[in-house]
Order: sequence, then C-alpha cells, then structure tokens
Amino acid sequence: MKLDVDGNLAEIEPSTAESATDALRHAREPLSEFAHALIAGLSARNKSVPCRFFYDAAGSALFERITELPEYYPTRTEMRILQSRAGEIPSLAPSDAVLIEFGSGSSTKTELLLEVMRDLYAYVPVDISEAALVDAEARIKTRFADLRVLPVAGDFSRPLRLPDEVAGKPKLGFFPGSTIGNLTDTEAAELLANMRRILGADSTLIIGADLKKDVRRLIAAYDDAAGVTAKFNLNLLHRANRELGADFNVDAFRHLATYDVRHGRIDMHLVSRDEQTVQVLGHRFRFAAGERIHTEHSHKYDIDGFQALAERAGWRPQAVWTDPERLFSVHVLRAG
Ligand code: TRP
Repeated sequence: MKLDVDGNLAEIEPSTAESATDALRHAREPLSEFAHALIAGLSARNKSVPCRFFYDAAGSALFERITELPEYYPTRTEMRILQSRAGEIPSLAPSDAVLIEFGSGSSTKTELLLEVMRDLYAYVPVDISEAALVDAEARIKTRFADLRVLPVAGDFSRPLRLPDEVAGKPKLGFFPGSTIGNLTDTEAAELLANMRRILGADSTLIIGADLKKDVRRLIAAYDDAAGVTAKFNLNLLHRANRELGADFNVDAFRHLATYDVRHGRIDMHLVSRDEQTVQVLGHRFRFAAGERIHTEHSHKYDIDGFQALAERAGWRPQAVWTDPERLFSVHVLRAG
C-alpha cells in the first residue's frame, strides 16, 4: 500500500479478495478523497457519487472503449467537425499564440489542432494528473519534436498560474469532449469564467458541447448494446472494493441511464437490484430494492442556450460549428 505525502491512500494495487484484516487496515488509515466523497455521497438521502471518481486506470481504459462504440457519437462527431474546419482553425489565433488544453486526455483532437497550427509559441496541457501530463508530453513530442511543451499540473476549476514564459502571449484555449456537460449549470458558468481569467483578455476558447436530440439516440449513447458503459459505471463499485475494502456485491447493482427533459440532461445511476446493506470503511449503508446511486449528469445543449451560458461567463460567441446531422457543436468564443 502506498501513501502520499499527506498520508492519504494513494494509487493502490488492485487486490481482489479483501480479508477482514485488510478491511481493518483500510479503516485505520487517513481517508482518501475518494473515501470521503463516497461516504458522504452514500450517507445522503439521495445517494450519489461525484463523477470524477470514474477515472481510475480501469475506468479510463473503459472510457476509451466507450468513445469507439457505434452508439457513442460525440467523440467521432466532434473529430469530424474539427477536421472539416481545419482550414479555418489557424485564423482563430495569431501565429505566436499559446495553445492551452484543459485536460490532456484527448490526444487525437489536440494533434489535429497542432497539425494545422504550425507557428504556435507553445502548447500547455493542463491536468490534475501528473501521470497524464507525462504521457501527453511524450506523445506530443514524438510527433511535434520542435514544439515547446509546457505542462501545468493543476486544477483548472480553481485559480491557476500559467508558466511565466507564456505571459503576454495571445491564448487559444481548447476544451473538447462536452466535458462541460458533466457539471451543473452553475458549475459550468463558474468554470467558463475561470477559464476566461486563466486565458486573459486576448484569448479565444474552442469548446465542444453535445446537442439535444432524439431521446432514444441519447439513451443509446449511454447504454450501449455491448454493455461497455454499464461496465464503466459499475467499475466505481469495483474501485471502492479494491481501494477502500468496501464489500459491494457488484452483481447486485445494475446500470441505468435516463433522460431528464426538463433539465436537458442524461443522468447515470447504479440501481440496487434488491434490498441490501453495504459496508465501506466501517460505515454501513442500507439500500432498498430499486434504490439508485446517482453517478453522472451529462447536459445536452441547444446552440442558443450554450451561447447564453458562455455570455454569462464573460465570453462572446464568435462562431459555432456543427455536423450535418446536428448531433454535436463546437463553439468558438472570444474573451468579451
Ligand atoms: N463526458 C462524457 C459524456 O458525458 C462522459 C461519459 C460518457 C460518461 N459516457 C459515460 C460518464 C457514461 C458516465 C457514464 O458524454
């Protein structure tokens, strides 16, 4: 077991069978962020777990598989939109601009931008995970050997300092994947405003936003026939068993995706198949048959609605690109 500098549980090797002594040992250690969030989320009257905990190594690998599913249109549609606009992208920023990517997990989309913007001053991937940054830098360096890569480890939902080297340079922000949709509207507006502060007055933001559409099509994208999304969602419980010595019987839960028309969002849940009790670090949680753990929001926008959200956060809509089926949108925003 590894502990980080604060003595919290850090990356832990998966172990399948947890013994009682393991469970005790887990229970005595200072609680990890995941442990705190899980216990708080399961203690609430409406149980929930924040979606950022999906992405351990197993979860990240499953998410990669989701992006390749026939039903999961967002990734490939956004890529096609960017490809179809490749000729316009260089005109969005001056030649000595700095490309700032929020989250460094979207290599193919980033490479497309770097491919067409050959005169960038630097590429700055921002990510909370140092490991993700190391990977991103190595990947980019193999293809763009001359590019100045200046990774920043940090949380872009908080005030963040960019490297001194890029001070005064025009900035082009990039936030693909409709990740913004995983936040509530208030959080989304705050994040957009924070990105505006990080990027500064002379900046442009390219941001992906998934569009409202036929409900069956939306649900299918979050409940695929091969069951990969179900596995991804249920991995959260496996992760709790692996890292915290919880005793979720994962087969006693099922994946559920619903669409909330009023809020324009997909909601992801884990549903308890029967009445049961689960133990996490000495806390016991009772589930009624059919009771849900809410695990994710994924907001779907219309173009006007997204632009209004951006304007509230200090951005001026400059352009919006979509695909012929109008499945997905890519917005170009200028600091207002
Ligand atoms: N940002 C992605 C989305 O909302 C994340 C995602 C895709 C996701 N499929 C999922 C999250 C299934 C949880 C469960 O589209």
